[in-house]
Amino acid sequence: MNKFKPTFPDYPHFLHGGDYNPEQWRDTPEIWDEDMRLMKLANCNEMTMGIFSWAELEPQEGVFDFSVLDTLMDKIYQNGGRVILATPSGARPHWLADKYPEVLRKNEDFVNEHFRTRHNHCPSSPVYREKVRIINETLARRYAGHPALIGWHLSNEYGGACYCEQCAEKFREWLKQKYGSIEELNRRWWTRFWSHRCDSFAQIEPPMPRVGETCVHGLNLDWKRFVSDITVDFMKAEIKAVRAFSDKPVTTNCMGFYQGLNYRDFAKELDFFSNDTYPFWGAGTKQTAEDIGFLSDYCRGMKQGQPFITMESAPGINIGGMNFKKVKSNGQQLLEAVKMVAHGSDSILYFQWRKGRGAWEKFHGAVVDHYGKEDTRVFQNVSKVGEILQKLDGVVGTGVKSDVAITFDMETLWALNGSAATGGWSDDYNGYRKCAAAFYNAFYESNIPTDVIGYEDDFSKYKVVVLTVPYLMTKSLADKLKNYVKGGGILISTYLTAVADSTDLCYLGGVPGAGLSDLFGLRVDEVDSYQNPSVDGLHHNCKNAVSYSGKTYPLSGIAEIIVPQTAHAVAHYTGDFYAGNGALFENSFGAGKAYYMGFEQEGELQKALVKTLIAELGLNAPMNITCDSGVCIRKREGDGENYYFVMNESDEEKNITLDKTYRNVLTGEAVSGKQTLPDCGFLILTDNK
Ligand code: GLA
Repeated sequence: MNKFKPTFPDYPHFLHGGDYNPEQWRDTPEIWDEDMRLMKLANCNEMTMGIFSWAELEPQEGVFDFSVLDTLMDKIYQNGGRVILATPSGARPHWLADKYPEVLRKNEDFVNEHFRTRHNHCPSSPVYREKVRIINETLARRYAGHPALIGWHLSNEYGGACYCEQCAEKFREWLKQKYGSIEELNRRWWTRFWSHRCDSFAQIEPPMPRVGETCVHGLNLDWKRFVSDITVDFMKAEIKAVRAFSDKPVTTNCMGFYQGLNYRDFAKELDFFSNDTYPFWGAGTKQTAEDIGFLSDYCRGMKQGQPFITMESAPGINIGGMNFKKVKSNGQQLLEAVKMVAHGSDSILYFQWRKGRGAWEKFHGAVVDHYGKEDTRVFQNVSKVGEILQKLDGVVGTGVKSDVAITFDMETLWALNGSAATGGWSDDYNGYRKCAAAFYNAFYESNIPTDVIGYEDDFSKYKVVVLTVPYLMTKSLADKLKNYVKGGGILISTYLTAVADSTDLCYLGGVPGAGLSDLFGLRVDEVDSYQNPSVDGLHHNCKNAVSYSGKTYPLSGIAEIIVPQTAHAVAHYTGDFYAGNGALFENSFGAGKAYYMGFEQEGELQKALVKTLIAELGLNAPMNITCDSGVCIRKREGDGENYYFVMNESDEEKNITLDKTYRNVLTGEAVSGKQTLPDCGFLILTDNK
């Protein structure tokens, strides 16, 4: 495997730093000098500036003030740092909406949002786009040649949707392009249902959840695609403006499994993928470490294995998204960083460098606390992370090799949330990610690395491909799956495979549809569902289970009643009127095999199935060592160099025994034999010559 080209060709090092808002301190410039002193002490080499700074950079229309940015670009560079510069479109200044109210975003109740928080603009508005073009070009022209600049950060966490008339009109154009005629749209959306037929494109409205048309699944799905596409289009306009003057790499910071956008379409336009990773350590060390692994593998998969940049993470607590704020132990803070690196990140950046004195994020974890000095626990931990990263230059650009891929497809998730919830099986369907995570866990516990990939990616390089709940199926994906298995691949698919086509029209002639019944060798006769017992009044007392290899596994939701054709049942239902029916099937097809798991299970059965496959296929962990359970091993490699990350993801001491002598990358010492890792402890080893 070759190394990837470094993310920042002019600066081939791990980045360590984060979001910095010097404009919040323009009245106390002595703080800026203090920041420079602290930046060095924290072993940081990067600052991301300009995010949300529009009102400071352009205080009045056409009047610019770059004094703070000029000063800090110079200061950071003089102090050995580099800068990723943001475009400020994530929050607009007051004057813009005062003068051009059309830039306001209209929410899902069809109400104009006034200032709100941020992300308060309409992505279709020509005026907003023009104003963004001007500020982006002005920034790019001014800083393109600055020696501190290494890359561009477009906007900030694009997200949300605008339901205004400008967006509705764009949506109609998008639909016209896609369907050509209103008759075709009516056919693909099945609009004879409840008199939803449209006589013209002009009648189509966005599916506003409380006041709009929401029962046409094809419309809902297309709206999500459109929102994602219009946001990509907005981002492309931002890129164009920056590119007019600067050739530095561009990215935008994404939000992991955020469901509002299809990040794979964003990734195609970006030079590198970057993510904001805020693990919730309140879930416990083991679970959280694994969650970081899954999310990081997903990020690495966005650009076919190219390392990604962790654009934000929290030093100390993250104030968002949870109702209690658990601080991290020292071990957890360090493990979090090493974990992301082990799975493909070429940076550890934070939100935020310094806590502001007021407003929303004043208590959010920061490298520099209100206290202001370096002798805080968080600062010391950050500084230790920096020390580690400084020793990892060789890791920059290395990849992760995996024999196993798990697919994660945002459109499927969108369709399932619409169809499974409003159409049938569960009132609070959240099974997609859970199902993927259960398979991830099954491989994870045996230290088998996995890629998390999209449907467009190459399957042929994997020994095993897992498709979870592939409810939407196109003919071309179906053919790709068949070719993969024919050629010797092992495919695992689950309940609700190939139920509907790309506009959520159900296949006729049996499920799995799209011509896949011969691949799996079976037909699904009925879909039973034991709902989530926590949903009041709706739960069904689930007495059913699945027996596999002499053990019984409880069901957790959907259970399909299946009629096998050529497939052979390897697990059976134990209860209800279909006790004894097959539940998990194996079907030989060409040189490979397709497994079909017709039910939801919390994960134990997936683990048992995966264990059998690992043995059968001879899948190996990245290092041939013995270790206690709870130790995760990952390897990054490229150009003949190997870096091994051995991580104790538990709150207890763990032992490992190495198979040969390695060099400890952080200390330079030789290491062999038995090693004890403290809780959250890790080793970064190499066998490079
Ligand atoms: C996001 C944003 C940041 C900040 C953090 C807080 O990731 O991009 O601006 O609000 O959340 O966790």
